[in-house]
Amino acid sequence: MDRLKTPARLMIVSDLDHTMVDHHDSENLSLLRFNALWESNYRHDSLLVFSTGRSPVLYKKLREEKPMLTPDITIMSVGTEITYGNFMVPDDGWVEILNQKWDRSIVIEESKKFPELTLQAETELRPHKVSFYVEKDKAQAVSKALMERFEKHGLDVKIIYSGGMDLDILPQGAGKGQALAYLLKKFKTEGKLPNNTLVCGDSGNDAELFSIPEVYGVMVSNAQEELLKWHAENAKNNPKIIHATERCAAGIIQAIGHFGLGPNTSPRDVMDFLDCKLENVNPGHEIVKFYLFYERWRRAEVENFEPYLASLKAACDPSGVHVEPTGSEHSLCDGIDGMRSIYGDKQGKQFRVWIDRVLPTQISSNTWLVTLNKWELSGEECKCCKTTVIISSKDAAVASDGFTWLHVHQTWSEEETNLKDHSTIIF
Ligand code: GLC
Ligand code: MG
Repeated sequence: MDRLKTPARLMIVSDLDHTMVDHHDSENLSLLRFNALWESNYRHDSLLVFSTGRSPVLYKKLREEKPMLTPDITIMSVGTEITYGNFMVPDDGWVEILNQKWDRSIVIEESKKFPELTLQAETELRPHKVSFYVEKDKAQAVSKALMERFEKHGLDVKIIYSGGMDLDILPQGAGKGQALAYLLKKFKTEGKLPNNTLVCGDSGNDAELFSIPEVYGVMVSNAQEELLKWHAENAKNNPKIIHATERCAAGIIQAIGHFGLGPNTSPRDVMDFLDCKLENVNPGHEIVKFYLFYERWRRAEVENFEPYLASLKAACDPSGVHVEPTGSEHSLCDGIDGMRSIYGDKQGKQFRVWIDRVLPTQISSNTWLVTLNKWELSGEECKCCKTTVIISSKDAAVASDGFTWLHVHQTWSEEETNLKDHSTIIF
């Protein structure tokens, strides 16, 4: 991971289903709260790692369904596949390690002899992961019998039971915990061990994450029985692990606060932005705040907006220009005035805006070029704009004095999905 030149301030390693993503929250509010917190306060100097049981195919599907951020590192298929960055470049060194004492065809052959096991979908069978469904009361006995058979063949495998139904067979050196240990070792060699690491999970395949030394851990409030049982038997007295009282991503935010790992107020929980200027001095925060205001504006959720609108206008450089994705241009100040005509046009409708990969590059002592992906969900339609913002702080030394927007340039992203109408982008 070359994006950061110095050790990450915080590395979050989070499971997805029922941890980062709450499948019972159709509005995805806790995920959106986490996203705003991450992009405004952490993205520029911290690392986000998603560690999921899903294969690349099902992981991509989830990203199409839910407003998820782009992680810096993706660990898929229960710690058997590690990829880096937006382009998901695979870690071939990890694959080499997993080949030890592993023979996939023997694993499949032997497992076939157990009628209690039902093979999972083809997409979930990976080079170093063979997965089945099995009923809760049969899982333990079947695992034990399987282990004996594999040992006879000289294989060294690991069997993990998750979610009260999934049984994964992996090489002994694989798993979410081992994959994290591998990453930490790599960072250490490069002199970039994160200052703090927080692991987050809800089910059996996450247990290993909590046994890595030095890390903080949060089991979200909705954690599965098998994880809580593992914790009670193995890590009960570890003060660095908590069982949150909040569900999913809200539990992650809770843990950041509990362990004092950094700011833990999501901009989504701040109603009056004029109030929250001083502690947040990075350009990412300024941009998150603007797009959140824009969402609330269109949802008619802003009261007493004249002062904020005036402050926005004051923050636009008089000669600043906004180049729209269509190619047409207008002045930034006119853009703010133009917002009046769309106040509340999404009231009572499904409408959310979130931004991803907010990456600032300092281009002079007080100016940043910030790139980001801006997503807008409106009903069934989801649009993504690649956005570049040039922004400067009024006072070079203390950005808390406020920012000036100099330029905004947007183009449609290839990542855009389900796009029917290009004509209605305002910001
Ligand atoms: C995900 C995977 C599945 C695996 C389960 C538990 O649901 O799709 O293959 O068994 O996680 O690790
Ligand atoms: Mg999970």
